Amino acid sequence: LKRVGILTGGGDCSGLNAVIRAVTRAAVFGHGATVIGIERGFEGLVFNHTTELTVHSTRSILTLGGTILGTTNKGNPFEWREINPDHSISVHDYSDKALATVEQLQLDCLFIVGGEGTLEIGYRLFERGVPVIGIPKTIDNDLDKTDYTFGFQTAVQVACDALDRLYTTGESHQRVMILEVMGRSAGWIAMEAGISGGAHIILIPEIPYDIESVVQRIRQRARNGSPFSIIIVAEGAKEIGGDCIVQEAASTRLQGVPQLGGVGFHLAAEIRKRIDLEVRCTVLGHIQRGGSPTAFDRILGTRLGSHAVQAAAEGKFGNMVSLNTPDMTLVPLCELAGVVRRIPLDSQLIRCAESIGINLGRTPA
Ligand code: F6P
Repeated sequence: LKRVGILTGGGDCSGLNAVIRAVTRAAVFGHGATVIGIERGFEGLVFNHTTELTVHSTRSILTLGGTILGTTNKGNPFEWREINPDHSISVHDYSDKALATVEQLQLDCLFIVGGEGTLEIGYRLFERGVPVIGIPKTIDNDLDKTDYTFGFQTAVQVACDALDRLYTTGESHQRVMILEVMGRSAGWIAMEAGISGGAHIILIPEIPYDIESVVQRIRQRARNGSPFSIIIVAEGAKEIGGDCIVQEAASTRLQGVPQLGGVGFHLAAEIRKRIDLEVRCTVLGHIQRGGSPTAFDRILGTRLGSHAVQAAAEGKFGNMVSLNTPDMTLVPLCELAGVVRRIPLDSQLIRCAESIGINLGRTPA
């Protein structure tokens, strides 16, 4: 390997800088390669905005949240959206510009770090001849064919800490405390944070919830001498017969992404109608995406970065590096397109939650 490039695309998450640092170090130490950082995801690729990464320039970024390269989830080179002076939107295919940048930079490999959408673009670039290696990233943990994505564990830890705090205030005031967390259409963050934070009710997109079941559980707790309840709800959760609350237009947020706070506040209002207890809702939002990664995410990011460089050196382009505990493997990018991994309904995670008395909003038998 002589010259490699790396870009981070889509929403940021903790651990991205661990990947950037690991790729740089493994490429420099193992191959004496030059590492080019591509700025703001595909935007930097289309418009050739880059910066050289060195062992020195990446030396203190392991603990930093975000990405030193910047990112955006707006730029798809194949469908580049531009706002015209009359506010209309035009869509262009700028993939040739992206390819020209790869050519100009003389890259032997382009590492693309991202979630499902970013990796799908990576696959399309690979089909056009770009030597791509994908690196999986998302707090949502909804990427298929890898045990975990980095960023997820940090998000769970942040949500768990939030639950610990909501627990003490909820118990003191005898209130129903709702915490809404992210996750798109998957309930991984809600489920793992809920179990680790001692939630009494966990509502996830995989199991449409029955509001009567939720209220019944709160009443039962009150009757048994615990007039407070802790609920964690995934932003993509939906009521039986209801719709997931999806935003209409997006400027910074993606079309089809649930509206921040929509689900939590809706749930609070529905509970208030049925029960004479105070209900409060907290929306964790982007707090779960920022800040320093946990040790787990630092290790995972570092291992993925290191393995990606090895895969590039072996010429295994068109693949994503993936955690297959305890090893790292490669998965063809074409197998990932359009697949969103949700919590399987027959999983031990769900059985575990219910076995210890957590209500998942199911209609009582
Ligand atoms: O995919 C990561 C994620 O944080 C989702 O959990 C969330 O729905 C979405 O991105 C938020 O996107 P944005 O940062 O554009 O508001």
